[in-house]
Amino acid sequence: MGGIFGFICKEPKDVSLINIGLRRLIYRGYDSAGVAYLGNNLTLNVMKILGNVSKTPLNISDRSTVALGHTRYASRGWPTIDNAHPLLDCKRKIAVVMDGIIDDYDKIKELLIKRGHVFVSTTDTEVIPHLLEGSKDYVKSALEVIREVRGIYSFAFLVEGVNKIFVASAGQPIVIGLGENCKFISSDLPSLTGFAENALIIPENSVAEISSEDVKVYDVNYNLVTPLTKRVKYQEQIAEKGGFPHYMLKEIYDIPSSLISSFSSLMEKYLSLAAMIVYGAKNVYVIGNGTSLHAGFISSYYFSEVGINVNVVSAAEFPYYALQNVSTGSVIIAISQSGETSDVIRSVKMAKLRGAVIVGITNSVGSRLALESNIYLPITAGPELAVPATKTFTSTLVVLRTLSIYTGLNSGKKDRKDINEFKENLEELSKNLLSRLPQMERQAEEVISKVEKESLYITSSGINFPVALEGALKFKEAALTHAEGIQLGELLHGPIALTNKGYPIVIVKPSEAQADDLYNKVIRSVLDRGSPVITVSPEGDIKSLETSRDLSPISNVIPLQLMAYKLGVKRNLPIDTPPGLVKAVVS
Ligand code: F6R
Repeated sequence: MGGIFGFICKEPKDVSLINIGLRRLIYRGYDSAGVAYLGNNLTLNVMKILGNVSKTPLNISDRSTVALGHTRYASRGWPTIDNAHPLLDCKRKIAVVMDGIIDDYDKIKELLIKRGHVFVSTTDTEVIPHLLEGSKDYVKSALEVIREVRGIYSFAFLVEGVNKIFVASAGQPIVIGLGENCKFISSDLPSLTGFAENALIIPENSVAEISSEDVKVYDVNYNLVTPLTKRVKYQEQIAEKGGFPHYMLKEIYDIPSSLISSFSSLMEKYLSLAAMIVYGAKNVYVIGNGTSLHAGFISSYYFSEVGINVNVVSAAEFPYYALQNVSTGSVIIAISQSGETSDVIRSVKMAKLRGAVIVGITNSVGSRLALESNIYLPITAGPELAVPATKTFTSTLVVLRTLSIYTGLNSGKKDRKDINEFKENLEELSKNLLSRLPQMERQAEEVISKVEKESLYITSSGINFPVALEGALKFKEAALTHAEGIQLGELLHGPIALTNKGYPIVIVKPSEAQADDLYNKVIRSVLDRGSPVITVSPEGDIKSLETSRDLSPISNVIPLQLMAYKLGVKRNLPIDTPPGLVKAVVS
């Protein structure tokens, strides 16, 4: 896994430009970084560093017409200089950077070693430069790699003496920004902001040959193809942290505006179509991982309200038991903010083969999920650079809730005035959040002083139970603190035994009035046992905002995100880039 960023220009540019692109892709990995570029007489130069390129940029003063950089998440092979990309062939003439995973690299490596190739790294990527070595036609050789090497990956390479960049996709996204005097290669669209206004999406199983003048794209049979062109969006938001110390905090402060942009970017015709299909489906599965799965859990409350039962399943578990019940007439609502998570893409592909219709929900327009979906609903939260997801979660809820209301138009449980009411509630919540976020942030800082232990419970009921799961995930990521999300009622069935050890309990007040008695009972029991209690509600220790039930998960998750953030700050942790984590898990 990693981020690829490169350029090829008519005139030489500072190679250090690569740092800007890599910094924007830092969410894809930050264990090491490197760059390859062609110097005088098109000789190949390579430079690598260990660690986070956004903190220690690649220090190069050279200029070149062509350069290819990489920031790495160490998925195969430790974070060492030898394992940093670019990786080279035996003759050190071909430099390859890769994003993704090669499944059968050990067998290929064994074979190549038998043929006399010498490996210097323990990465899967290194098989590629050795497979390309000695090629007379690099497009053809790259196509052979795609055909024969199993996995989900994309790669790009430079060859000494050849003023071109070659790019290949075997399932991982890679795009080419079309600037006036330069072409830019990147692992995502938003990173191209300011470099290019339009970009080509390289289709799966194809290879692009890029010069400063033109781009030729070939399919696996070596036929020229015309790839999809997308506009590069998010111009204003790619800018740095906007004065905030961390992306995570900035992105929490983006929530009020992103709620509105997410709602207003949904197009009526796609919503209506998706809703009609969901309503008419034989069965509906909602799949996702991590934060997206938690948003999926909340959607089951939304869909239930309009008379539709959905099965919410982790995309990692989906193939093991849910897939067998998928056939023509099934609908898969696939959620992935990055649109690249392997579990999601794999499950979507398997479900499609069985005849299911895919409704994809993603924050990444050019992503694999967007391309694999029959109908695609954008999250439109803007780029989220902190690894702990915050605003994409709240915006995903807006998309899911809107879809459920449209589905309700079909089932007769909702009418058009419900859409207007939702819009008004959302606008009010957004407006109030804008003014109340600083106060919430202060309260989060105050209550966090109660969290001294290495473990805590977060509990709630009903539609806010998944919020407890999501809050616990944020504590693990941003504060590296063990936290367990648990249903209020379930707390009494064993877990409460630990509260006499002083584990703090964060209780999110449920929105359902039926749960009031239980809520009060649990608070009393926990306090009796001597554990600190932190309540989250409009009148709690940290005050969420009064809003409708459907929007209460948005109002309640923000205090949890802020608490996790503040604990991470208190513990002086790398909040935006937690050790060992990346934004999109590709396995
Ligand atoms: C949460 C987080 C992960 C992701 C999960 C799914 O903060 O970073 O749990 O939510 O890996 O990612 P997407 O939504 O991109 O498929």
